[in-house]
Amino acid sequence: MSDTLLRNLFKKYKSDKYNHRYFKIYETYLNNFKRKKIKLLEIGVADGSSVKAWSKFFKKGKIVGIDIKEIDKKKLQIKSKNIDLLKGSQSNLIFLDKLVNKYKSFDFIIDDGSHFPKDVIKSFKFLFPYLKKGGIYFIEDTQTSYNHFFGGNPFDLKYANTHLNFFKNLSDSLNYKEIPNPFYIKNSFDGFISNVSFYRNIVVITKNINNIESNLVLNNSYEKKRYLTKTKRNKNKMKYFFKYLVLFRIYTLILFIYSLFKRLILLRF
Ligand SMILES: C[S@@+](CC[C@H](N)C(=O)[O-])C[C@H]1O[C@@H](n2cnc3c(N)ncnc32)[C@H](O)[C@@H]1O
Repeated sequence: MSDTLLRNLFKKYKSDKYNHRYFKIYETYLNNFKRKKIKLLEIGVADGSSVKAWSKFFKKGKIVGIDIKEIDKKKLQIKSKNIDLLKGSQSNLIFLDKLVNKYKSFDFIIDDGSHFPKDVIKSFKFLFPYLKKGGIYFIEDTQTSYNHFFGGNPFDLKYANTHLNFFKNLSDSLNYKEIPNPFYIKNSFDGFISNVSFYRNIVVITKNINNIESNLVLNNSYEKKRYLTKTKRNKNKMKYFFKYLVLFRIYTLILFIYSLFKRLILLRF
């Protein structure tokens, strides 16, 4: 069995990443980085199966594992020098702050910790700024979003405060330049995400600068862009002023007010 393939390493060290078939996804995203000097953070170490596999796969890399429980390296026979293990919770911002002060940034972050929606969201919000440009964030076992015993909600799939809904909404950050809402408030992820991919029970997010101006919408206004495009080619400015900056704007405003009332009535914020 070749130790160069992630699937074999997960199998050898008995990581559940093998049984869940996550190896297929990890191979797709990580094979090209195998010989690189990367820094990988994994939330959730348990018996050390996955950190052992990562350390053998990324021989030149640094593997940092964190777990809420004390991990006894000797007992678990974690011998590789490129593995650092730290005790702390993924939802403890003081601990996470110390972690990023020590390691500065990461190429890859894997969340295989508590799988509770609020913990997953909290650590993602804190750690994302410390993911390098081109870096990838993996969130495993997202099925807990559907499980009320884990803080998920199987009865309100679209609007429950779960991590899957958080990541579904994050896909809007990919396209924020195309959102024709003049009242749109940019969030800290807009412009920094180039890919959000959903697989069965695992989400993958790639960080990259993504802020090229839209050719359809200008500063979140469709009317403004249309008006500028049309008047560049045509001298009849009054006609386009009336059409785009008066009529279209009135329609946008009516839709905005209607949507605002709907949200207030349904308590959706
Ligand atoms: C599924 S296991 C990790 C398995 C390991 N990543 C692997 O693939 O072999 C989940 C681990 O997350 C840890 N954990 C649970 N809640 C946590 C939290 N809030 N912060 C950090 N780790 C946590 C548990 O102690 C447990 O060891």
